Amino acid sequence: MPNTNTLLQQRYALPAEEQPAFIDNAITRFLLEHRSVRAYQDKPLPEGTLETLLAAAQSAATSSNLQAWSLLAVENPERKARLAALSNDQAHIRQAPLFLVWLADFSRIQRQAEAQGASLEALEYLDSFLVASTDAALAAQNAVLAAESLGLGTVYIGALRNNLAAVIDELGLPSWVYPVFGLAIGYPDAQKPAAIKPRLPQSLVLHRETYRIPEDESTQVQDYDQRIGAFYQQQGLNTPSWTRQSIERLSRPQILSGREHLLATLQAQSFQLR
Ligand SMILES: Cc1cc2nc3c(=O)[nH]c(=O)nc-3n(C[C@H](O)[C@H](O)[C@H](O)COP(=O)(O)O)c2cc1C
Repeated sequence: MPNTNTLLQQRYALPAEEQPAFIDNAITRFLLEHRSVRAYQDKPLPEGTLETLLAAAQSAATSSNLQAWSLLAVENPERKARLAALSNDQAHIRQAPLFLVWLADFSRIQRQAEAQGASLEALEYLDSFLVASTDAALAAQNAVLAAESLGLGTVYIGALRNNLAAVIDELGLPSWVYPVFGLAIGYPDAQKPAAIKPRLPQSLVLHRETYRIPEDESTQVQDYDQRIGAFYQQQGLNTPSWTRQSIERLSRPQILSGREHLLATLQAQSFQLR
């Protein structure tokens, strides 16, 4: 395992003297090692993997203990292929032995309420949607860390929302359920290793007490652009700088590849987002 300084160096791509302070233990060090994996071995997962990941996910905090999420596991190759086709045709979805769909899910409590003749009027409000989506994300990230601890690799699939209505149909999701994102899981292909991607410096991300925009924000962003540019080059990737990529990613609705129509599909699933 690489030592902590090497990992911090990879996480921020800063010279040793500019690295942030870091309290080193097995878990903090392990967290630094995250990278998304987009190439998998054709190798089944050990028995009990799904249940282990689910126990990790269910150990995450959950708003008011509502547990407003569910997990849908897809292993069937044909279904994975259909979901891949709906998600910008990302090959790693087909390749990974396990594809998890993280669902915001109020349908469970809605069924109980209905049986008791109660109505859940707060469900239609935007905050309830945020509660369920946040719960699902926190649960998923716990599963990601558990998977990584087992030597597995993962990649989130936000593109699962590109054709949300078709995905809802494919998965047979009832009202009050929507897929927040997918997660491909498998053993990383050692021939195509993924690297730790440098992040923005802490000085751009951390505010103390009140929000203050750093005077040299633009210079710091440009410096980061240089560092991540060098990283992409090292990886043989022709990816533009962080600023250019991010501006492009947010520049127009069409870039959302179908997600610009999310509201109508969510409303059809009962989430009114008042
Ligand atoms: C909610 C979410 C959705 C994502 N969707 C995709 C996706 O559809 N396809 C993909 O290849 N990566 C996807 N990613 C992975 C990000 O691109 C990746 O986390 C980011 O570039 C940072 O790289 P790293 O995870 O290797 O550190 C997603 C990540 C998140 C958190």
